[in-house]
Amino acid sequence: MEIIILATPADVARTAADVIEQQVRLGPSVLGLATGSTPLGTYRELIERHRKYRLSFNQTQAFLLDEYVGLPTAHPQSYHSVIRADFTGSVDFRPGSVHGLNGMAGDAEAETAEYEGHIAAAGGIDVQLLGIGADGHLGFNEPMSSMSSRTRIKTLTRQTRQDNARFFTHVDDVPNHVLTQGLGTIREARHLLLLATGRAKAEAVAAAVEGPVAASCPASALQLHPHVSVLVDEAAASQLAHREYYSDTYGRKPAWQGL
Ligand code: GLP
Repeated sequence: MEIIILATPADVARTAADVIEQQVRLGPSVLGLATGSTPLGTYRELIERHRKYRLSFNQTQAFLLDEYVGLPTAHPQSYHSVIRADFTGSVDFRPGSVHGLNGMAGDAEAETAEYEGHIAAAGGIDVQLLGIGADGHLGFNEPMSSMSSRTRIKTLTRQTRQDNARFFTHVDDVPNHVLTQGLGTIREARHLLLLATGRAKAEAVAAAVEGPVAASCPASALQLHPHVSVLVDEAAASQLAHREYYSDTYGRKPAWQGL
């Protein structure tokens, strides 16, 4: 795991966009996309690069991490709609190449199994963008999710519903249930890119990166993966015990190495 402490959220966004640009320039690629506020800067940066020098996503497929149960695809807060508004609708993904879970599926088990099949058929995910919840959730894998879990239905905690209430008129409008890639599914992506900015994420980041691997902190599953980049700003890094070591190591990283 490589922990990279950057001065500002804008630096986090630029560095994450660099990783994604490098991947999509290699040729046909599969990205795992996260929603939430954290990756917005990265998406804005990628949209700008698309406009400035035609960075293209027309050979890229994308899979969303999660979706609310009970929101039709067209609902403005369904993650289908959110990712289109925040990113994919402003660049040149081909029609049908951005995949999400159907939160209205009558049979959640069949839907989630099928989604796993689509990811596998695409060849697996090259780069998976991730945010982290204040309680350490990844995707919508709330505390006590199995480290080996697959895509499935989950019940949101009160805290997550409260945290996401800002996107809805009232907290009671936040769905109780979600479909989410499991921790085992996420761990199959070839490169995990966790982004965290702001003081509110500092405890969760420290628990995920320096705490024990424990189901009580789902993001600690990152420690089980061979290729993880954790991009944090100073505020999100503030509770890390070894932050000097991480900064020192990154400062002396050979230029050829990349992330
Ligand atoms: C949401 C999403 C996660 C996201 C997390 C943090 O509930 N399901 O994918 O990473 O919570 O969100 P934010 O980046 O807005 O803090």
